[in-house]
Amino acid sequence: MTGTNLKRLHVITWGCQMNVYDSGRMADVLAPLGYGPAAEPDGADMVILNTCHIRDKAAEKVFSELGRLRRLKEATGGRMILAVAGCVAQAEGAEILARAPYVDIVLGPQTYHRLPEMVARASRAGGAVIETDFPPEDKFDHLPESATPQGVTAFLTIQEGCDKFCSFCVVPYTRGAETSRPVAAVLREARHLVAQGAREITLLGQNVNAWHGEAPDGSHWGLGRLLREMAEIPGLLRLRYATSHPREMTDELVAAHRDIPALMPFLHLPIQSGADRILAAMNRKHTADDYRRIIGRLRDARPDLALSSDFIVGHPGETEADFDATMALVRDIGFAQAYSFKYSPRPGTPAAGADVQVAEADKDRRLQALQALLRNQQARFGAGCVGLDLPVLFTGPGRHPGQIAGRSLFLQPVHVIGMPSLIGHETTVRIVASHPNSLAGTLIQEKQIA
Ligand code: SAH
Ligand code: SF4
Ligand code: F3S
Repeated sequence: MTGTNLKRLHVITWGCQMNVYDSGRMADVLAPLGYGPAAEPDGADMVILNTCHIRDKAAEKVFSELGRLRRLKEATGGRMILAVAGCVAQAEGAEILARAPYVDIVLGPQTYHRLPEMVARASRAGGAVIETDFPPEDKFDHLPESATPQGVTAFLTIQEGCDKFCSFCVVPYTRGAETSRPVAAVLREARHLVAQGAREITLLGQNVNAWHGEAPDGSHWGLGRLLREMAEIPGLLRLRYATSHPREMTDELVAAHRDIPALMPFLHLPIQSGADRILAAMNRKHTADDYRRIIGRLRDARPDLALSSDFIVGHPGETEADFDATMALVRDIGFAQAYSFKYSPRPGTPAAGADVQVAEADKDRRLQALQALLRNQQARFGAGCVGLDLPVLFTGPGRHPGQIAGRSLFLQPVHVIGMPSLIGHETTVRIVASHPNSLAGTLIQEKQIA
């Protein structure tokens, strides 16, 4: 497209890493129509609000943001195309159009390959466009190659949707059934990302370790086998995958942590609770000891593996003793970092209808206690890195002049004084200080490792 008819697209992204990936792909789909990136929504020709439904008052948050965008749209004489995408759009599309009739397009996570056609329909006026049915075709078969490079670190969705139906979770309803992308498509996209400058790729899925796919030779691969193949791609230094489910941690995947140096020694493996009663009520289909055993197998395979997890406090039925079991599990395992949330009832999920909801004050108190413990563990893990020489992959400029920033093997942000020419390279850094959410280091080797 020529510069003269360049249109400006602004995308606002909430939610998980997959939404970040999806926002990039939506921009890719719209690029052939002449849409280039706009840093601000103010004055943009199109704004997409990519939403998340996982917790809290998701819909209310959407409506308050839409109120702000409405004023910006009016300032363009109504010309701005306003689209709501993502998981709130999927779950509450009709309500969005009823309450915010100035929205032009509502689309679910499985239909964004159809955006060009939706934009054309919206531009012809005659009312809003809504696409929230799960389409028969696979969107990945209809997406162009990514036009805008993601940078040194990139996301690649290989699996989407969830069949696990945990009692508290909306994802199976908003993202649909589990599907896996075929090996050839994943490898093609990975090579393209590397050609665009990616040195680290995080494979994404709601249950990424449930990924399975047919290989070119007709055999059937699991994630462990795919990671081995990915590690052979020239120029790709680092691999990660997220988010995993404990029940899908196969021997092959554990062995991948032992055998593949490019597979980073950091794993996000949510458990949610340390109490078997609550794990059963959550429909997680494993016990706390199953989780401990999985961690044991992983640590045998990769002794320096650092761990992260997700926890929910105050799931319906959770007693003080159940919460104590969660605290005990956290102490037993020792996490490098973790996310913890107060249980938030989601419309249409089984747990929301339970008659044994936990009082808000108890949820608050438990969350504070858990977060204090997790903060402590994170600080201890960071402090343990001080004095070590760690490989750091530099991803961009730091916050202060002369600084560059990158990430450690364990996903910690690291900043050093250094030349911008190191961006895109991995170099050994001596860690000199740890802060609550980052490390500071000095370059001990001006030359890059790779
Ligand atoms: N697929 C991943 C998690 C996806 S959602 C898994 O199975 O682990 C990310 C996290 O949000 C979850 O791990 C859970 O800790 C949290 N979460 C999901 N639904 C929630 C709810 N209703 N209330 C509070 N936290 C929730
Ligand atoms: Fe949600 Fe459970 Fe599926 Fe994770 S495994 S996405 S928590 S239903
Ligand atoms: Fe949110 Fe949907 Fe991701 S609900 S966490 S954006 S899958």
